[in-house]
Amino acid sequence: MTVAYASGKVILFGEHAVVYGQPALAVPVTQVQAQATVETEPEGQDITIVAEDLEQSYTLEQAPPDDALRAIVVGTLEHIGVGTKHDLTITVSSTIPIARGLGSGAAISTAIVRALSRHLGHPLSPQAISNLVYETEKIHHGTPSGIDNTVIAFEKPVYFVRDQKTEIFPVKSPFLLTIADSGIASPTRIAVSHVRRAWERGREKYEELFDEIGTIAEMGRQAIERGEIETVGRLMNENHRLLQLMGVSSPELKGLVEAAREGGALGAKLSGAGRGGNIIALVTQETRSRVDMMLRLAGAKNVIITEVG
Ligand code: MEV
Repeated sequence: MTVAYASGKVILFGEHAVVYGQPALAVPVTQVQAQATVETEPEGQDITIVAEDLEQSYTLEQAPPDDALRAIVVGTLEHIGVGTKHDLTITVSSTIPIARGLGSGAAISTAIVRALSRHLGHPLSPQAISNLVYETEKIHHGTPSGIDNTVIAFEKPVYFVRDQKTEIFPVKSPFLLTIADSGIASPTRIAVSHVRRAWERGREKYEELFDEIGTIAEMGRQAIERGEIETVGRLMNENHRLLQLMGVSSPELKGLVEAAREGGALGAKLSGAGRGGNIIALVTQETRSRVDMMLRLAGAKNVIITEVG
């Protein structure tokens, strides 16, 4: 039996603008994980996928053609060139909440590629894993930039620009992020298509917003590489303001961002596609408990803390 894991992720700077070619920064979140196990079965069983959280079990043949789990299994087998005739059970489960900007779909696919490729004796590089997962991201999200599959497959802080070589960036002084869940599911596909329609109606305004966000992502990287944490916080606030102008915040996200700042966070912003999902707040050992309390009082359904660096 082979077991593999993949972490969740958050976007620090640059969501949405990254779809239009601007840079963005994302980091893995190891506190939430997807898991895949692969077991060899007696001959004639075929490949069975067991999605534990959904209480579903089906063979490759029974799966609908657009099933994302089937797609990643077939994509992996084709990539390593071993055909689809195997007798295996592939079981997946995850503690990453779905549709909250934490990369649950990409993490489940990554865990499957890791477990399956290792089980069959063909371990793959992070870039090869990322490329395979990107194909299933298109099923989930329509026109993804590729940042989710990249940060999850590389498991490192990434500076990402669409269609360019991924850069891993160093973190000079590790810092703490609080991640608070609004409890509102927000599929990435819907928020991304909302922004696309708005951009089509008002290209000039949206391209200006994307450019400004791209500059913030560049400055954010420099600040993180220099250990200038207060600057990182200020840039998070500024990025959130621009996301609000883009129309992807919501009263609930606004409430959580304000609560985090009142609690003493150095900065806070929505993270991911917006309209629901999570906010992130930059905290210190001194402010983390108060920020946690303020977020829960403001209605956060779950709060986790992760160290970046
Ligand atoms: C989703 O995690 C981030 C978005 O920028 C979409 C994408 O990059 O594909 C909203």
